Amino acid sequence: MFDYSVFSKEIQQAQDKGLYVRIRTLESPQGSWLVISGKRVLNLCSNNYLGFANEERLKKAAIKAIEEWGVGPGAVRTIAGTFSIHNELEKTLARFKKVEDAIFLQSGFVANQAVIPAITDAQDAILSDELNHASIIDGVRLSKAKRYVWKHRNIEDLEQKLQQADSEGARRKLIITDGVFSMDGDLAPLPGIVELAEKYDAMVMVDDAHGEGVLGDSGRGIVDHFGLHGRVDIEIGTLSKAFGVLGGYVAGKTELVEYLKQKARPFLFSSPLSPADTAACLEAVKILEESSERVENLWKNANYFKAEMKNMGYDIGNSETPITPVMLYDAKLASEFSQKLFENGIFAQSIGYPTVPQGKARIRVMISAAHTREDLDFALEKFRSIGKDFGVI
Ligand SMILES: Cc1ncc(COP(=O)(O)O)c(C=O)c1O
Repeated sequence: MFDYSVFSKEIQQAQDKGLYVRIRTLESPQGSWLVISGKRVLNLCSNNYLGFANEERLKKAAIKAIEEWGVGPGAVRTIAGTFSIHNELEKTLARFKKVEDAIFLQSGFVANQAVIPAITDAQDAILSDELNHASIIDGVRLSKAKRYVWKHRNIEDLEQKLQQADSEGARRKLIITDGVFSMDGDLAPLPGIVELAEKYDAMVMVDDAHGEGVLGDSGRGIVDHFGLHGRVDIEIGTLSKAFGVLGGYVAGKTELVEYLKQKARPFLFSSPLSPADTAACLEAVKILEESSERVENLWKNANYFKAEMKNMGYDIGNSETPITPVMLYDAKLASEFSQKLFENGIFAQSIGYPTVPQGKARIRVMISAAHTREDLDFALEKFRSIGKDFGVI
């Protein structure tokens, strides 16, 4: 009989270090306020940047799609056929991102697994920022290409690694970066990366999971933010954050998308998302195409909250986006701080290793367009009193 105590011991160790992840059970939909264990708490955790997760228009679109198409896709799209609604979402995403085409996948995580091993093999080089998201790291692990990890946002180091890859005879070079780094909220130096890619004839892939719905015109993302349309080869997107639903995609040139439809294993060997998910995603993109109001509210809220936290004396890192890392460094402290916030009506999870490096524990506050000024003031008041009690401000 397998000795399961090896798992219990590791769990105990995580608890001792403040690294045990407590999973809260929600008794209400995602929104500014949640009900957890019968208690109403302000939600500062979710990536539901624009409040779409429980939005009427999206819900109606999902219900209508179920009535029209049923609940399941039958099998993978290459075998059972594809609903026209999947195709429509891909065309709409491509239009929104101002690229030629897109391929819809089951999640942002899966999108990285799909594209990286499909376009690289043992003759190639992958150049990856050291703080890239776990889904990129795992996608890279699925490829036989040689890996070159460059220092976070460090263009000089990237150039050295490109030279090294060339001197080691790489056939194809793929530079990969998060657009917005999800735990710190800082931006990839995309203009510099693109220039280097052009100089060294490399491909650029950016994971825009936290840029969409946040950066650029009406939330078109980091490429739009930097005006780099046509100069970034591959954009990865997720529909689970600002778009409020579920799913992921790869956007770029027609040839790339065609190729992925023949080669990407999650597309070939796993069924697509349901009609309901797909229709809700489509509605979210349409709302963003109609108006930038939600994106503007998101920034108004984020700028207010971040400025007040800074004034209070909190260390909130170098975020350039609504992601607000409240740096506490010590994992145990962060865990206790989060618990205290919860007791005071605020749901804001602590984040520790391995999601962030050792010694960089934090509370990651996620601001949403759906928060009101009263919500933010409530949170600020609690951060003020609890921060004082813990002696961190
Ligand atoms: C940069 C990045 N890529 C991909 C993902 C995964 O997205 P999804 O939840 O759609 O799988 C995340 C989510 O945490 C992310 O931050």
